[in-house]
Amino acid sequence: MLMIGHRGAMGCAPENTLLSIHKAIELGADWVEVDVHLLDEKLIVIHDATLDRTTNGQGKLADYTFDEMRNLDAGLGEKIPTLQEVINATAGVVGLNIELKGKGTGKALVSLLEKTPDSQRENMLVSSFLMDELSAVFCLDKRVRIGVLASDNINDSIAWAGKLKAFSIHVSLQNVTLEWVERAHHQGLKLYVYTVNELADIKRMKQMGVDGVFSNYPRQIYSSM
Ligand code: G3P
Ligand code: MG
Repeated sequence: MLMIGHRGAMGCAPENTLLSIHKAIELGADWVEVDVHLLDEKLIVIHDATLDRTTNGQGKLADYTFDEMRNLDAGLGEKIPTLQEVINATAGVVGLNIELKGKGTGKALVSLLEKTPDSQRENMLVSSFLMDELSAVFCLDKRVRIGVLASDNINDSIAWAGKLKAFSIHVSLQNVTLEWVERAHHQGLKLYVYTVNELADIKRMKQMGVDGVFSNYPRQIYSSM
């Protein structure tokens, strides 16, 4: 079962920063997950569309220029990273799950990945709750591996995964059931569960046959217990 660091290792370092990603790698995560938004036509790594929760900025990210955003403190003196910086930090080291959070992120991602070799793409997975963004990715570049973030309706999500020829489906810990796992596997999809922090839940997911868990504390030892 893959251990995927959630927003890097957000239980151990400021979320979605390079420090958080390095921490996840140090803990032995197989993959890291980050969230991306578009600002001044560049993909940047942050979860919210507002700055207040995770930085010393205020209000909407969209009201800032790229340079203003870069001067913010995202925790412990870390900057909000660009997606390119995260790709550079993870390539050849750990798998990278890029979660598209805002409008236009799908098209921007395809442009960014244009020159990425197939060997590196195998260590990348692009996911979203936004089917429009995933559809844009799928239309523009069939080589990108897609993960569908499931809605509460498994039938809808499995149908979307089929349309987008997805690699995986990502389900919340609250929603996951053995039936979901079996349905996903029947369709040839990997099933990953977020966010799994308690050891008892990690063990339960393993027994259920899930293929990976997102955790704020991505210690490799947990997934092999
Ligand atoms: O990609 C899994 C998980 O990160 C989805 O929810 O809100 O933490 O981005 P969220
Ligand atoms: Mg996310």
